[in-house]
Amino acid sequence: MDTGCTTYAFAVSGQNKLCHVYFGPSLHGEGDLDQELRKLSTEVDRRGVDDDSPLMPEYAASESFDYLMPALVPVFSDAHYGASLVYTGYQINGNLLDITLNDPDQRMEVTLHYRLFKTPGLLARSVTVRNRTDQPFQLHSFFSLTLSLRADAWNASYYTGRWGCEYTRVHSQLTQACLTLSNRRGTCASHQCIPFVALDHGCTEEHGDLCFLALAWSGDYQIHLEQDPSGLVRVTAGLSSEDLHLTLSPGESLSSPEVFLGFTPNGFGGMSRLLYDFEYDDLCIRTDSRPVPVICNSWYPYAFSVTQENCTEMIHKACSVGAELFVLDDGWMKGRCHDHTGLGDWYADPDRFPGGLAFLSDTCHSCGMQFGLWIEPEMLNEDSDLYRTHPDWVLRMNGGRDAAMRNQLILDLSKEEVVAWCIATLDRLLSSCRLDYLKWDMNRYMTSSSVRGDHRFRYIQNLYRIWAWMKAAYPHVLLENCASGGGRADFGMLPYSGRINRSDNADPVDVLRIHEGFTTLFLPRLAGGAGNISPSPNTINGRTLPFAFRAISGMTGSMSIGINLNTCSPSELEEIRSAVARFKELRNDLHNSYVLRLKSIEEGKLSILEYLQREGNTAILFAFGHGLRLHEGECRIRLRGLDEEALYLDEEGHCISGSALMHLGITLTLRGDADACVLVFRRMHQKP
Ligand code: GLA
Repeated sequence: MDTGCTTYAFAVSGQNKLCHVYFGPSLHGEGDLDQELRKLSTEVDRRGVDDDSPLMPEYAASESFDYLMPALVPVFSDAHYGASLVYTGYQINGNLLDITLNDPDQRMEVTLHYRLFKTPGLLARSVTVRNRTDQPFQLHSFFSLTLSLRADAWNASYYTGRWGCEYTRVHSQLTQACLTLSNRRGTCASHQCIPFVALDHGCTEEHGDLCFLALAWSGDYQIHLEQDPSGLVRVTAGLSSEDLHLTLSPGESLSSPEVFLGFTPNGFGGMSRLLYDFEYDDLCIRTDSRPVPVICNSWYPYAFSVTQENCTEMIHKACSVGAELFVLDDGWMKGRCHDHTGLGDWYADPDRFPGGLAFLSDTCHSCGMQFGLWIEPEMLNEDSDLYRTHPDWVLRMNGGRDAAMRNQLILDLSKEEVVAWCIATLDRLLSSCRLDYLKWDMNRYMTSSSVRGDHRFRYIQNLYRIWAWMKAAYPHVLLENCASGGGRADFGMLPYSGRINRSDNADPVDVLRIHEGFTTLFLPRLAGGAGNISPSPNTINGRTLPFAFRAISGMTGSMSIGINLNTCSPSELEEIRSAVARFKELRNDLHNSYVLRLKSIEEGKLSILEYLQREGNTAILFAFGHGLRLHEGECRIRLRGLDEEALYLDEEGHCISGSALMHLGITLTLRGDADACVLVFRRMHQKP
């Protein structure tokens, strides 16, 4: 398979086994793989225990002498388990390739799917298993892929998470000890570890070969990284096999989530750009010409004390500072003045919102603003009509009710009647008033003992079904994916999300790390999070920071305002108005850019990011420094990715060539505890 810049190769061995051969930069010679193929056609018996030549099955089921992780473990009705797979055929359909494998007893058919994309360097893999017997059987392991990487000194980089501190990059060198990345929270994988891993053998930010894989799944997962004694690395990625019991009835098939697999010769920066191209061009996120609006959200100013009165006042103030969308966050439902009640009964509180949602929606639209609503449809409080009517709809553990977290219980989305209720509720809300935006939240984890079997798998499948329905039925509505901040920032949710809540932590110094991690994987236009022009002192981390620092931080993603506009002085409102206006001036370029990490906050006290517009016409530099000793913030910065020959104009009217910006660089001076600046360079199409 040729992805445009990589070759991915596998072959059928002399014993009819499908074996992996190569994944890496494009091979151009006709006979480049001959030597590998000859080896496969002449397999001989193992000589003895000193023979540890590696096995590279394209998809590992149960093979003799394979001591690494199997991707597929079926358990048949006669208690027989495992299966050795042989190749039976293939089919090509446009950009899709299917390879069919069978077990010799013809009990199941396994189809390996490969999908190519517009974006060169990327492909997706997944698997479908079909039961060919007249008895049900179970899958106790059902991974999406096996990937073999030839012997080298492999390093793994991945992103661990935690509420308020999402996307922390970790590097580990692989050894013969198995490394497993996983999520056991049932959902919100990114608060444990994003289902993503990059593998390299010594690359830097802009140089070196790197391959990565991203699992399109928000539930329990495992990515195993194992090295065998010969140095070969096997990656096994997909659904978690812990307590997995997926039942396949006779004739039934089951498909695994997809894994996106990419390769770049340009280090971590190349990886981010490849992912961006994929997100812009293939994943059909809302990247059309509609800008992501500047949002004013009620949560940080009012939390559960929202009323029609304070929201109306805020809408008018938001409009006056240039915000484009008002979001009525948590607290709007009947009785929801605290977190003990209200979840599940999705009706506006008649006492606090006498005009209903329609009043606020009309107020927004009459000011030329859009209206958005917060909802947490997977949840319910025990004190709710929904729970009183359907106590059997909550997720259970071993027959008993699951434990509460933030006083809330989880609806069992694996049940069809719950899915139907959820769609009907969303449909009612989305059509009840003019809604332009929906913030879907998820504020708890499943407990480790909540039902397993296939419930947790069906739950996530149904979650995606509901989002797919919303996207198709209400295509104009911007959908924000939030899970206590960034708990569901993953590639399973990505195709549906027009905005991702990066984190609940909007402290601009903490955001430097959060944003760098987020934009390594995801587009900056997706980077939301209530209140990223945040109040000072910060409500989460207590830092007191100057307005300029907070405002510039707010420009790096999709801007929102978390300050209580109703209590701002006229001069504070003016500051906010000019920050919003400045952001709008730059938004089109910022939201169609790659983010290049010129200086990473992981390495010191400076974060310098270049937003390079995709056609190379504009470079916008964000520089942040915090806790600086004198001189620590003086640095020479060389931009990247510009046209050497072209001239660029800065905002003071100076003209400078692309070669000078990239080789000579520019000098920046940041000072003190919190300093930030933004510099813009625009390509001149005509000589001055
Ligand atoms: C989560 C979200 C916040 C806010 C609250 C409301 O924490 O991340 O933005 O919506 O829930 O309860």
